Amino acid sequence: MAISVCLAGATGWAGSALAKGIYAAPDLNLVSAVSRSHAGKSLGSVIDQTGSTPLLSSTAAEALRASPDVFIEYTKPDIAKSNSLQAFQSSCHVLVGTSGLNEDDYREIDAVAQSVGRGVLACGNFSLTAVLFEKFAEMAAKHIPHWEIIDYASSSKKDSPSGTARELAYNLSRVRESQLDVPHDQSQGPEGIRGARLNGTQVHAVRLPGYVLSLDAIFGMPDQKLIIRHEAGMSAQPYVDGALIGIRKVISLVGLHRGLASVMNL
Ligand SMILES: NC(=O)c1ccc[n+]([C@@H]2O[C@H](COP(=O)([O-])OP(=O)(O)OC[C@H]3O[C@@H](n4cnc5c(N)ncnc54)[C@H](OP(=O)(O)O)[C@@H]3O)[C@@H](O)[C@H]2O)c1
Repeated sequence: MAISVCLAGATGWAGSALAKGIYAAPDLNLVSAVSRSHAGKSLGSVIDQTGSTPLLSSTAAEALRASPDVFIEYTKPDIAKSNSLQAFQSSCHVLVGTSGLNEDDYREIDAVAQSVGRGVLACGNFSLTAVLFEKFAEMAAKHIPHWEIIDYASSSKKDSPSGTARELAYNLSRVRESQLDVPHDQSQGPEGIRGARLNGTQVHAVRLPGYVLSLDAIFGMPDQKLIIRHEAGMSAQPYVDGALIGIRKVISLVGLHRGLASVMNL
C-alpha cells in the first residue's frame, strides 16, 4: 500500500522538485500540499506537473485533513515547528527539510513525537554528498580533537548557520566537543570574532552573493590539516532522492532522528 504524503512548501524551490519526485514514485501518494500564495489552485498547474494533483491548502491544518501518513515540512523556520507539532496531533510521522530550527525546537519536537508514538526525521541536507560529508567528518573527529566549521551561503539567506552546518555540529557533538586552546572568555578582540559555539563546535557563517551553499570542516593537527568540503550546485534535484528515502524510513521511527545518515546503512 502506498505511503500517503502531505507536502508543505510544495511550490518552493526545493518542494516543487520533491513533489515531482513523489509523483514519479509508485509507492508514494501525494494527497495534500501547502502554499499560501497559490491556495485553491491545483499543485500541478503551479509546478507544471501533469496528471491529477491536489488543490493547494493555505495552512498545514487544512492540508492535514487529508490524513496523510507522512507530513513533510519544507517551508520556512518561523512556521516549521508549529506545522510539525500540528502534524503529530494528526497522527502523522514528520520529515523536516526546513533549516533554522534550534536545539530547543528539536527538544520540544522530540518530546511531542515521543508522546504520540510518531517519528520525526530532520535532515539539514538530503543530498548524498552531504550525507557522506557528515560521515567523513564524524570519522575525522574521532581522531583529531581540533576542528572548526565554515558555512557559506548567499547573502539573502536569513538563517545562520545553515541546516547542514547545524546538523554537522550536532552529529560531531555525539563524538566529542572540539578543543579550544584559548577559551572564549580569554580570547582578545571584538565579540564574535571567533564565531559561535554550537553544540561544542566553532561555527563561522559567510553570507555573500555568488554562494549557493558550501561547507568546510577544517580539522587541524600540528603540521597538518584535513579540510573536508561540500559544495551544493544550483538545482534542487540532489535533495530529492534523499528526501524520498526519508519518507520511506520515517514511518518506522519513533521520536527525533537527525540526519539521513542515521537511517542509512553507511
Ligand atoms: N534539507 C535539505 O536538503 C534542504 C534543501 C533545500 C532547502 N532546504 C530548506 O528548505 C526550506 C525551503 O527552501 P526553499 O528554497 O524551497 O524555499 P522557497 O523557494 O522560498 O519555498 C518555500 C515554500 O514554503 C511555502 N511557505 C513559506 N512560508 C510559508 C508559511 N508560513 N506557511 C505555509 N507555507 C509557506 C512557500 O509557499 P507560499 O509562500 O506560497 O506559502 C513555498 O512553497 C528552507 O528552510 C531551506 O533552507 C533544505
